Amino acid sequence: MSTQVIPASTPLVSSQAASDFRYIVPSPTFKSDFNKHPFILNHTMADHPLFSLPKLRELALKTQEQRPLELYYDAGQNVPIGARWSEVAAGPPIEEAFERINDAGAWITIRQAQLDPEYKDLFEGCMRELEAQTGRDFKKLMRVEDAIVFLTSPKRTTTYHIDRECNFLLQISGSKTMYMFDRHDKEVLPELEVERFWTVDNNAAVYKPELQERSTPYRMVPGNGVHIPVNEPHWLQNDDNVSISLSCNFTMKHSERANVYRANHLLRRLGMQPEPPFQSPLKDGVKNALISASYVPIRSAKRALRRLRGQEMRIE
Ligand SMILES: [Fe+2]
Repeated sequence: MSTQVIPASTPLVSSQAASDFRYIVPSPTFKSDFNKHPFILNHTMADHPLFSLPKLRELALKTQEQRPLELYYDAGQNVPIGARWSEVAAGPPIEEAFERINDAGAWITIRQAQLDPEYKDLFEGCMRELEAQTGRDFKKLMRVEDAIVFLTSPKRTTTYHIDRECNFLLQISGSKTMYMFDRHDKEVLPELEVERFWTVDNNAAVYKPELQERSTPYRMVPGNGVHIPVNEPHWLQNDDNVSISLSCNFTMKHSERANVYRANHLLRRLGMQPEPPFQSPLKDGVKNALISASYVPIRSAKRALRRLRGQEMRIE
């Protein structure tokens, strides 16, 4: 298990391209590995003044007042890697969580930070540059975009999970290690867990300590970041410091991956053994189309189920 980190001396970009960015350091890896493989990237926002503790306290208080559902925080010492979200205790009042950030065992997330005018330009700038680097049209790709600020107390663990978002996690201050697993490793992430994740349980991915050695550790330090493709399993261990990160992420508009897993979950409930996704483009296409159609309000779920059962019998 070798830790992934870019040495400071590694040239990341030619001098020509270096003048073309403000936030995200260009690299050919964006194009080749976007939403396929995790990779480390570099950015220019280390210790940016908008992410100082007093500024983020202000942002958290405003978020609590104006958009309370976008503020989540909990607190706990020695949180197990495999704990479910619901197993971690609620945090103290948010003011206290900030005052005691050094010993509260807190994990604070401020979602939709780009809705605050002070953070809007920075987030949009990052997204524009990520879009240019990946060579993808984000407007066609994205359903919902989100700027999430994460604050983590010293030594706090962020529990094992998978996400539905495509994520660029940028380290602003403090250091920590992310342990990332391969979503295609079916012993790490069985089909049933992914199906349950997309249908009934956000915490469906189960940590398997005996497989920890299969993870790749990514050292996150101010000025670097990690791209996390959709559903790539991961957990994080903070160092003995307050960590502040910015996640530039979005859910996909047309998520064939999600639809195939949803179709398979329904088929399994009908007593069938559906084929996993990405093995037959034809079957995946049919399942994707049927699930997409079932989301049109006037179509009934029962009709979609009947059609799915018929299709799966025909194509397997
Ligand atoms: Fe995550």
